[in-house]
Amino acid sequence: MSVTDRRDGRFALRTRQLCRHYPRGPQLIRAVDEVDLDVPEGEFLAVVGASGSGKSTLLNLLAGLDTPTSGTVEAGGLRLADLTRRQLAAYRAERVGMVFQSFNLIPHRSAVQNVELALYFSHVHPDERRQRAARLLDRLGLTDRLDHRPADLSGGEQQRVAIARALIKQPRIVFADEPTGNLDRDNADAIMALLSELHGDGLTVVLVTHDVDLAAQNASRVIRMHYGRIESERDPDQARERSA
Ligand SMILES: Nc1ncnc2c1ncn2[C@@H]1O[C@H](COP(=O)(O)OP(=O)(O)OP(=O)(O)O)[C@@H](O)[C@H]1O
Ligand SMILES: [Mg+2]
Repeated sequence: MSVTDRRDGRFALRTRQLCRHYPRGPQLIRAVDEVDLDVPEGEFLAVVGASGSGKSTLLNLLAGLDTPTSGTVEAGGLRLADLTRRQLAAYRAERVGMVFQSFNLIPHRSAVQNVELALYFSHVHPDERRQRAARLLDRLGLTDRLDHRPADLSGGEQQRVAIARALIKQPRIVFADEPTGNLDRDNADAIMALLSELHGDGLTVVLVTHDVDLAAQNASRVIRMHYGRIESERDPDQARERSA
């Protein structure tokens, strides 16, 4: 039985002939090119591929942060292109948690403020916002860094604040672009354990990583991008064998 059957055939995400092309003089850069991708609800999908292969571009299209040149993205059965600006903003605010490759933290706010601000437009009481933010940062090993501003945090610590910010909304889908790129193995494992636990509770995860082992150990499916296209799909065991 495939993952799709298990989840009643419901897709968190689906793309058809998805393209994001950039004209550059006489050249056309096909950052994402004719991608057909189905992500069943509750899947933990890893996207690997060389630098420049289009991973971040694909993630931004899926998260509704970028607009395709052509082709479609559906999220939860709705085409993002058919949504009004308000609906698209709601999709991003309520359903999606995004961990960017560059952390995009607010410089003049503390770690805990950066995290709780993600709930600013929610109905969660400010006290509860603070508690949830502190709890998440605690889990990510930042108990002693709540009041530090991003400039006073290491790269790996900023990374973990960015992850807490993405998770505090309890989104349905998390897009994580190299969330362990700046971390040592212990911290990378802690983040993967957290994502895996949330995945166990039904969260859909799309993880971009250079680390094929990390992908193989944690994801239920690994896809590889090559010049904007999905080159191959395989289950994690095959991916691990190939990288061995
Ligand atoms: N605004 C832009 N204008 C022109 N080309 C762009 C633009 N943004 C990205 N590209 C190109 O699109 C391709 C895909 O970029 P993308 O950032 O998606 O790669 P990536 O797989 O995430 O790489 P990395 O692993 O280094 O983060 C690259 O060749 C990049 O130079
Ligand atoms: Mg990238």
